[in-house]
Amino acid sequence: MTDASFGGALAIGRADFLAGAALIGGEWVDGEQSIPVVNPATGGILGHVASLGPSHAGAAVTAAAAALPAWRARTAQERGRILRAWFDAINDHQRDLSRILTAEQGKPMREAEGEIAYAAAYVEWFAEEARRAYGEIIPGHAANKRLLVARQPVGVVAAITPWNFPAAMVTRKLAPALAAGCTVILKPSEFTPFTALALARLAREAGVPDGVINVVTGPPEAIGAVLTNDPRVRKLSFTGSTRVGKLLAARCMETVKRLSLELGGNAPFIVFDDADLDKAVEGAVASKFRNSGQTCVCANRLLVQSGVYEAFAERLAARAGALTLGNGLAGACDQGPLINEQALAKVERHVEDARARGARLLTGGTRAEGPGHFFQPTVLTEVSPDALLCREETFGPVAGLVRFHTEREAVTLANNSAAGLAAYLFTRDASRVWRVNEALDYGMVGINTGVLSTELAPFGGIKESGFGREGSRHGLDEYLDMKFLCIDVEPLAA
Ligand code: SIN
Repeated sequence: MTDASFGGALAIGRADFLAGAALIGGEWVDGEQSIPVVNPATGGILGHVASLGPSHAGAAVTAAAAALPAWRARTAQERGRILRAWFDAINDHQRDLSRILTAEQGKPMREAEGEIAYAAAYVEWFAEEARRAYGEIIPGHAANKRLLVARQPVGVVAAITPWNFPAAMVTRKLAPALAAGCTVILKPSEFTPFTALALARLAREAGVPDGVINVVTGPPEAIGAVLTNDPRVRKLSFTGSTRVGKLLAARCMETVKRLSLELGGNAPFIVFDDADLDKAVEGAVASKFRNSGQTCVCANRLLVQSGVYEAFAERLAARAGALTLGNGLAGACDQGPLINEQALAKVERHVEDARARGARLLTGGTRAEGPGHFFQPTVLTEVSPDALLCREETFGPVAGLVRFHTEREAVTLANNSAAGLAAYLFTRDASRVWRVNEALDYGMVGINTGVLSTELAPFGGIKESGFGREGSRHGLDEYLDMKFLCIDVEPLAA
C-alpha cells in the first residue's frame, strides 16, 4: 500500500497496519473522533487513529479484567507458545513494521529494523522465561510448619509507552506481563500509535485471546486518569519523563498499585586519559547520536579528561559533522528528525544556553533547512557543568564536552544529577574500571562501550530515573506477586 498523503514513500504490504482503530476486548474500535499522526521527517499526515476517552479506557479495563481468569489459568508453557508465535509473526513482518516505525517516529530504516529485532527479542526471551516463575520452599521455623513462596500474576496491568521506541518499549512490558499471566491495557504514545497497533494485530493472529491485550489510543491525560484510578488495575508500568512519572506514581498510590517507572536519564559519558580513543569516539557516536539523541540512556554530558580533551573533541566533531540527515523512507541516512517542534525548541534552547555560558561550537548548532524537524549533529566544547545541557536531559543530537582533571572530579561531576539511569566510562585501567563504576550512582554502566541495551540484562535506573527492571529474568518479577504459604502439617502417626 502506498499512502500519497505524506509524500508517497510508505510502501507496506499490510494495509491494516495503518488502520487507526483501537483494540478493546478483541474488537477494533474507531471512536467518534480521531487524531492525526504526523511523519516528523516531512510534516505530512501519515494517518489517523481513534481518539478515545475515559469511557473507552474503562471498557478496556473491564475487558482486561474479564480475560484475566482464563489467561492466568493457562499453563506457562501454553502462554510461552503463544508468545513464541508472536515473536515469529513480528519477524515475518519485520520490513512492514520497520517502515511504519520510521514513518511515524523518524529514525533511519537501519535503526528501525534494529528496533524491531530488539522488540522481538523481548518476546522471545519472555516466551522462554514464562516457565521459570519458580517459587521457593523455606525450611520451617517449627517441626510442624512448612513454608512456601508461590509467585502469581499481579493481575490487570496498564502499560504506558513512549514515542522514542514505539516497538521495543511495548514488547518490553507486554511480553513479561503476558508471560506471567497478566492481562494488559496498552496506551501507546499518541505520536507513534501505528507500530503498537500493528504489534497488537500480530499478537491476536498469534493466538493472544480477546481482552488479554487491549490498546487504547488518544490523549494521554484522560486515559491515564482512568488507568491510574481504577482499582482493578493492579500495576502500572510507565516509560517516559520524570515529570509525568511522578504524577502517575502519585495517582497510583490512591489504590496502592505496583509500579515500574523507567524515567528520564542524564547519562555521564566519562573518557579518561588512558582510554582507547578510537573506541571512545565510536562509543560516543553510538550513544549520543542513536535515534538522534532521543534515548533515555544516551550520553548527555561528555566528561573528558584534560590530557585527551582536544584530540577527543576534534575526532568526535569530525565524525558528527559527517553524519547524514534524511527521511529514512527516502533512502539511507545516519540521522532522522526530532519528534516535533517542541523537541527542536528544547535542543535550540540548550545550545544557546551553553554558548551564552562560554561553550565553543565545533560542528552543527542549528536546525537543518527544509521540511521536517531536523537538527544538525552538534558538538560543543568547554561546556559549563551549570549549563542546561548538563542539568537537564537534552533529548537531541548535541554532544556537550566538559573538561575534568582528576578521577574524583569526574565522579563528582557524574553523580551531580537527580537522575540515575545509565553512565559510561572509558579507560584501560582495570582497577579504575572497578573503582569508578562502584562510585557511580547509576542503575547501568557501560564500560568501554556506548551501547548496553539487551533483552538479556536488567534495564532500569535509580534515584529520579525510577525503579523496577525490564528484560532479563528480573523483568518477569515485576509482573508477579509473591504469596507466602504457611502450612501446618500433622506429624507421622506413631
Ligand atoms: C529508552 O530510551 O527508554 C530505551 C532505550 C533502550 O532500550 O536502549
